[in-house]
Amino acid sequence: MGFVLAAAGSAVGLGNLWGFAYRASQGGGGAFVLLYVLIVLAVCLPVLVAEMVLGRSTGHAPLIAPVTAGGRGWRPLGWLFLASAVGILSYYAVLMGWTGRSLLHALMDPLPADIAGAEAYFKGISSGGDAVLGHLVSLALTGAVVAAGVRAGIERLTRWAMPLLFLMLLGLLIWAAFLPAAREGYGTFLLRWDASKLSDPATIRNAFTQAFFSIGTGIGAILAYAAYLDRHSGIPGEAAAVVGMDTAVGLMAGCVTFPVVASFGLGDVVSGSTVGALFIALPTGLASLGAAGRVVAVVFFLLAYLAAITSAVSLLEVPASSLIDRLGWSRPRAVWLCVAAIAVLGLPSALNVSVLERMDALFGGVLLIAGGLAMALLLGWRAPRRYRADLEGSGSPPQLVGALLFALRWVSPPAIAVGLVVSVIDLARSWAG
Ligand code: PFF
Repeated sequence: MGFVLAAAGSAVGLGNLWGFAYRASQGGGGAFVLLYVLIVLAVCLPVLVAEMVLGRSTGHAPLIAPVTAGGRGWRPLGWLFLASAVGILSYYAVLMGWTGRSLLHALMDPLPADIAGAEAYFKGISSGGDAVLGHLVSLALTGAVVAAGVRAGIERLTRWAMPLLFLMLLGLLIWAAFLPAAREGYGTFLLRWDASKLSDPATIRNAFTQAFFSIGTGIGAILAYAAYLDRHSGIPGEAAAVVGMDTAVGLMAGCVTFPVVASFGLGDVVSGSTVGALFIALPTGLASLGAAGRVVAVVFFLLAYLAAITSAVSLLEVPASSLIDRLGWSRPRAVWLCVAAIAVLGLPSALNVSVLERMDALFGGVLLIAGGLAMALLLGWRAPRRYRADLEGSGSPPQLVGALLFALRWVSPPAIAVGLVVSVIDLARSWAG
C-alpha cells in the first residue's frame, strides 16, 4: 500500500491539474482524450510494469539498474533517466513556487476581480525575485522530505496527502457540476468530437506528452521506488492501480477546470497560454463567487501543491538514489547536492516563462518518451526473461505476463517510435515558426 500510494503520488501532479487542462484545450477535444487514454493503457502500462520490474529485480538505483539488466551498452539509459529527472525538476519546482504563491494569495488577499488584474498578479509571481524564491522554497521542502528517506519521508508524506487530495478533488468536482455552464464546459473541451484531429500532429504530440508525463514513466522515478519492493507484491495490479488513479485525477481535474472556464467566459485565456488555465482563469472565475470562491481557490491550490510535492520527491529520488548507490554517499549529502545543482539549473526557468515552456517541451516531452522507448526495448527485447521470471516468480498468472510481454515487445516500441518522431517534428516546427 505504501508503494502504491508513493507511486500514485509521483504520477498525480501538476501534469494532471495543469497539463491536462491546457493540452485538452488546444483543440484536440475528444480525440485528444481518446488518444491519451489509449496510449496510457496500451503503451504506458506495460512500460510502467517494465520499470517496476527493473527496479525490483535489480534492487539498484536508476543510474545502475539498466546496466545490471542489459550490460554496459545500456549505460546511456541510466544517464538519460538522470538528465530527464533533473531537467524536469528544475522547472517543476518553479511551477510549484507559483502554486504556493497562489495559495498564499488566496488565503490572504481577495482574488483578482478581472483578467487584467489576474494577469498583472501572475506576472508578479512568475518573474524576478518572487519566482526565484518560490522555486528555492519548493526545492528545499522537497529536499527535506527526500533527505528523511523513502519510508520515513516519502511514504509518510504520501500516506496522508494522497487520500486528502482525492477527497478535496471530489468535493470540487461536485461543486463544479452545479455551475451554470458545467455541461457546456465538459462539451467544449472534453467531449467535442472531430475525427480528423486523430491524425493531427499537435494532438498526437499532446497526447503522447501528456500520457508519459502524467504517468511519469520512462524516467526512472517509479524504478527508484520499486527497488524497495518485496518479492511478493503483484506488480501488474499495482501498476494498474497507479494508472487508474492518475487517469481518474486527470479527468476529474478537467471536470473542475472546464466548467469554471465556460461559466465565466474564460476560454481564450486558457488556450492562449500554457499557464492561463490554472493561474489566471481559475482565480478570476472564482473571484465572482465571493467568499465561496475564495474557499474553493484555497482548496484547489492546496490540493495542487500537495500533488506537486509528492511528484517532486520522486523526481529528486532519481539522482539522489543514484549518487547513494553509485558513490556510496550518505542520503543527506546526496540530496542536498542534487538540490543545489537543480536550484541553479532552474534559475532561467524561474526568470523567464518561455524558457520554462521550452524545458517542458524538451525534457517533459521528448526525453521522457525516448526513455519509455528504451525501457520497452530493454525489458521487451534485451532482457525479456528477467521480466517474465520476476512477474511469474511473484505470483502473476503466466497468461497475464504473456500478454504484457507481447504488448511490451510489439505494441509499445512501434507506437512510442511513431509518437516520438511525430513529437520531434511537431516541436521543431513549432519552435521554428
Ligand atoms: N507525473 C507528474 C505530473 O503529472 O505532474 C510529473 C512527473 C513526476 C513526471 C515524476 C515524471 C516523473 F518521474
